Amino acid sequence: MGQASYVPDEQPPDGLVELEVGPVAHGGHCVARWDGQVVFVRHTLPGERVRARVTEGAPGARFLRADAVEVVRASPDRVVAPCRYAGPAGCGGCDWQHASPAAARGLKAAVVTEAMRRFAGLDVEVEVRALDGPVDGLGWRTRVGFASDPTGRLGLHAHRSQRVVALDECLLADSRITGMGLSSRRWPAGSSVEAVVSADGERLVVLSPGDAVGRSEPAPALDPGTSLIVVAPGGDRRVRDQGWVRERGWVRERAGGRTWRVSGSGFWQVHPQAAGTLVDAILELTDPQAGQRALDLYSGVGLFAGALGEHLGPEGQVVAVESDQQAVADARRNLHDLPQVVLVTGRVEGVLARPTGPAAEPVDIVVLDPPRAGAGRRVAEAVADRAPRVVAYVACDPVALARDVATLGRRGYHLAGLRAWDAFPQTHHVECVALLRPDQ
Ligand SMILES: C[S@@+](CC[C@H](N)C(=O)[O-])C[C@H]1O[C@@H](n2cnc3c(N)ncnc32)[C@H](O)[C@@H]1O
Repeated sequence: MGQASYVPDEQPPDGLVELEVGPVAHGGHCVARWDGQVVFVRHTLPGERVRARVTEGAPGARFLRADAVEVVRASPDRVVAPCRYAGPAGCGGCDWQHASPAAARGLKAAVVTEAMRRFAGLDVEVEVRALDGPVDGLGWRTRVGFASDPTGRLGLHAHRSQRVVALDECLLADSRITGMGLSSRRWPAGSSVEAVVSADGERLVVLSPGDAVGRSEPAPALDPGTSLIVVAPGGDRRVRDQGWVRERGWVRERAGGRTWRVSGSGFWQVHPQAAGTLVDAILELTDPQAGQRALDLYSGVGLFAGALGEHLGPEGQVVAVESDQQAVADARRNLHDLPQVVLVTGRVEGVLARPTGPAAEPVDIVVLDPPRAGAGRRVAEAVADRAPRVVAYVACDPVALARDVATLGRRGYHLAGLRAWDAFPQTHHVECVALLRPDQ
């Protein structure tokens, strides 16, 4: 290791460095060292020896980034990537195509354990469970956020880049998304194009044209039965003026024994088994009883509020807090039969800071499911201030989760359980639910 210094102007003739690859790190890469410098290496696995191209950083930088382009000694967990677009300089959508699905789950478990150790000072083992679905980890994505390149071809971004890698197909996509034929059409350049297929097979495309040129171009015609929403700064009227179609802007999803209306690109779990699995876990871990009070923070279209509301009954109450107005409008329709659910539109940090109102009262249960950045210190402290008997924290980022668990720990809540699922096979993402209880 580190036989020579890496100097950008004096790279080895082929520009490659040879590395002994160490443990996995959060973000879909492994850690190696080159002449004393930390290198985050993609497209490799722990225990491998690889030749890698440095993609970011310079001597003296805090760390370098590199792509393994040649495997000198392979891990037994290595497989041939099923997708032809995966690999160095390819599509950035997947991180672990070159690992067996079981090995990838092991890598994710190691990342969660390390995050808890490093950011919460906790020693926890976790098993990352597979969700029901194809064992090869392909064909599960019911929502795919594509982008169009300067020529209007559809694709996905390269890793840490705005460059769009044009694709004929994405192997992670549900076959009904592939069947929409979106990649054979030309899109306004620089657009984002979200393709959605619901539990019942309803198809929806949300087009957000990216630039002035793009906005003046028409959206392509789609197959009959596929709804298209065009999100334009001028709003719907402008969209109609340009002759773009706007049909029904929502789909129907199913989870936890209920039906959910989800508009446009509003949040819904992308793996078809994830929403139901999370509802089951939340109910089992929080054990809601009739007449109790609950807070559902970052409530989206009301998934957990609905499940809790049914169990708390008409004498109980769930206060659901969500900042996205359209998601709250969907939640209002989704939960109209549960008057015990009170919907509050606003940012969680602001709503919890109010001295009065439905979210200010003590509660028995708090469920929180923040976006990737986590809830943050203020929200975690405000949760503890309400003295719930149980907190269930749903997290798609283990590092953000661990930081918030640490805050809750300082406020008298300890980690009483941690579950994790591979809700994003082939990628580095992992979905966790942490259970916290008051110390005494
Ligand atoms: C991970 S989703 C969870 C939604 C819901 N719990 C579910 O499982 O369907 C996070 C939600 O938080 C909302 N959100 C993001 N930042 C927020 C904030 N600061 N305050 C309130 N809601 C926020 C987003 O609009 C999104 O609906």
